[in-house]
Amino acid sequence: MTTLVQAWKDAQTRLKTAGVDSPAIDARLLLEAAAGVTRVEVVTDPYRELPDEAVRTLADYVERRSRREPVSRILGRKGFWKLMLAVTPDVLTPRPDTEVVVDLSLRHFPEAMRFSMLDIGTGSGAILLAVLAERPAAKGLGTDISDEALAVARDNAANLDLGGRAAFLRTSWADGLGDAGFDLVVSNPPYIRSAEIDLLDPEVRDHEPRLALDGGPDGLEAYRILAPEVMRLLKPGGMFAVETGWDQGPQVRDLFVAAGASQVEIVKDLGDRERVVTGLKNSLGNHPPTR
Ligand SMILES: C[S@@+](CC[C@H](N)C(=O)[O-])C[C@H]1O[C@@H](n2cnc3c(N)ncnc32)[C@H](O)[C@@H]1O
Repeated sequence: MTTLVQAWKDAQTRLKTAGVDSPAIDARLLLEAAAGVTRVEVVTDPYRELPDEAVRTLADYVERRSRREPVSRILGRKGFWKLMLAVTPDVLTPRPDTEVVVDLSLRHFPEAMRFSMLDIGTGSGAILLAVLAERPAAKGLGTDISDEALAVARDNAANLDLGGRAAFLRTSWADGLGDAGFDLVVSNPPYIRSAEIDLLDPEVRDHEPRLALDGGPDGLEAYRILAPEVMRLLKPGGMFAVETGWDQGPQVRDLFVAAGASQVEIVKDLGDRERVVTGLKNSLGNHPPTR
């Protein structure tokens, strides 16, 4: 007979041996899902017997995690901001770092305000849906080059009852969208330098879609396209926020300044690393007014 506590310990040992860096948490999350129990039950009822089916499911989960598949991918879901999102191998697992983009957007647009937003490279729909969930008068569009990612984003929107205010479009970046249509433009584009992808943790390197990672030789390819595009797409007075790698802030800021953005700032994440470049489109046009 296997009890909850024994299953948890065995799973931890196996994950530790496999080099997983958070074996206790991961083992608990997999156990909770396999056994259909809560964290509180694992602690308060540790000697409860695990049914055979749960033992088999847990063994499968632990085996997959040992091969460095992320927990979110095994469970098919990931918490982001206040939402639970479905994730598949076709979308980047949303990261806590990206919540800075959501936070900045919500600070800029008051709760009752009607505004339109665009999320370029929406993946699971994480940024778009997190903002729409908190701003009931807003509507938005998410673009992606991946049909498979867009299918996940559409499912997430429907499951969160946001399908009526979120639309999705397959296109490269914002190709085909008209000028000055949005009050808010956000993006978390691929920004890893191509040569560095093979050096990433296996969880990312082997399990995240390369399309979501590869930012070209210097990691900045997407921003070179996005900076002028974002300025074109924003309404005068509109705001943008784009996620960057921790060492890319100054270069991305310069690209947006060169594209005519005003009040461009670099914002840090909770880990104190530069993470987001944000700014405005001058309400008198793309260029500062002349005196
Ligand atoms: C880093 S992921 C971000 C996903 C999601 N926005 C998030 O923050 O979790 C980048 C996304 O950009 C998409 N992408 C890559 N190249 C693109 C292109 N040329 N046009 C539109 N989207 C693209 C990828 O498919 C991926 O979904």
